[in-house]
Amino acid sequence: MNYPFWDVPHIGSGWVIGLIAIYHIMISHFAVGGGFYLPMAEAKALRENRKDWLDILQKHARFFLILTGVFGAVSGVGIWFAIGLTNPEATSTLIHNFVFGWAIEWVFFIIELSTAAVYYYTWGRIPKELHVKVGWVYAISSLLTLVIINGILTFMLFPGNTWLQVAGSGQEAHYFWNAFFNPTYWPSLLMRILVCTALAGIWALVTCSRLDGRLHAKLKTELVRWSAKWLVPSFALMPLALAFYLWQVPESQRSLLQLGMSTMGTGAFTQVTRIALLIIMTSGTIVLVVYFFAWRTPEDFSFAHAIAVLFLGLVATASGEYAREALRKPYVIGRHMFSNGIRVRDVARLNQEGFLTKSLWTTGPDKLAQGEAMFRGQCLACHTRDAYRPMKILLAGRTRESIGSLLKILHDYKPDSPYRSFMPPLAGTQAEVDALGDFLAAMISTNQTAAAENPAKPAKVAASSAKSAP
Ligand code: HEC
Repeated sequence: MNYPFWDVPHIGSGWVIGLIAIYHIMISHFAVGGGFYLPMAEAKALRENRKDWLDILQKHARFFLILTGVFGAVSGVGIWFAIGLTNPEATSTLIHNFVFGWAIEWVFFIIELSTAAVYYYTWGRIPKELHVKVGWVYAISSLLTLVIINGILTFMLFPGNTWLQVAGSGQEAHYFWNAFFNPTYWPSLLMRILVCTALAGIWALVTCSRLDGRLHAKLKTELVRWSAKWLVPSFALMPLALAFYLWQVPESQRSLLQLGMSTMGTGAFTQVTRIALLIIMTSGTIVLVVYFFAWRTPEDFSFAHAIAVLFLGLVATASGEYAREALRKPYVIGRHMFSNGIRVRDVARLNQEGFLTKSLWTTGPDKLAQGEAMFRGQCLACHTRDAYRPMKILLAGRTRESIGSLLKILHDYKPDSPYRSFMPPLAGTQAEVDALGDFLAAMISTNQTAAAENPAKPAKVAASSAKSAP
């Protein structure tokens, strides 16, 4: 444990990343998809000599510039802050491995931001063909930022066997391309491009919905329908892309989905399956709303309809990202580093030498304080004390002894351990494991006192302790 742990109460640090990331994804994927929408729509309007289309597109371009250039860029930086605080070890690995990747990414990013501004501010001021070309430079450079970042994101799910063999040897950078074009690179890129085109359509529907359907019936009908078509590739090809993706996900991670299916409703890892169902339901609803309200009656397509579609898109995107995160458990970098920042190859050494021994951040010999440091360092990456995946509920009703046997299972990490597929091994000496046990027992006993005082709680605690009994 070389870094202090960022302890975010109730939601956990992972959700800080999650919330910023979901918001960022809605905008950044629009930044790519919308980048194609604008020059394509503009070229069409010029071909057909449609001044009325151009006026709307100019408004859309302004909205696009502000949303992507300000909110997209700021939230992107926010992700860097959040991941650096939440998992410094993993962030450091990404930076070291992909120095050139990031450098290239930022070059395209600068081109992207500047051409977005040039595109908007030169509207009607430079020759028309040149203006469309500026739009295309924007579109290509923003697509290239996705092409780069996708390699780094998919690397985290599974870096591929070649890279894993050299991980830790100092030779990793020589295997940049192996790490970059890892097994899920192509299916993930395909899925993200489909999300981009869908979001281009969804955000364009927001702009079109503000047109008065009675005053501009023809214009609104054309624009709403043209924008709605942008959702078609996504809904036609997404199931195929998803199947391709799951086929490339390593067997060990795919088994999490099966675990979720087989234990549906009984507790163990059902979130992934529930989330998968949520994605299917929200996507289905988007199709229905877009078909009935945008395609069939475009003149009446209102701002509220557009916001509803946007909101459903947000839920589907958020769920998709959550499922991707869940599939990665118990790793932050597949088979290389666990979610709590411990490298797979370091576990045996930590069991010998101790987890806290090299930590500057723990204080003194106090056993409870040591237990808390163990908890912060090894469990808080995925659990919180009392709210998200709460320790107090998951452990409720257990005695110190049964906590001890649970920790022993986590520590031994036998091949048949039921926790292996989603929790990392508990690393450290026996004394450290005991300290953690004492700390956890003390933590839940304060919870039980609280439950006794509050008559509404015991039923819930009893139910969940029955569920979590080994
Ligand atoms: C990689 C993320 C991760 C880490 C790190 C992690 N857990 Fe878990 N843990 C999970 C998940 C996921 C579940 C399943 C939760 C559910 O079913 O709702 C879980 C479940 C549990 C449960 C309930 C088990 C049961 O049988 O119902 C306990 C207790 C638990 N964890 C304790 C710990 C302790 C103690 C640590 C630290 C040593 C820890 N976890 C570290 C992800 C993690």
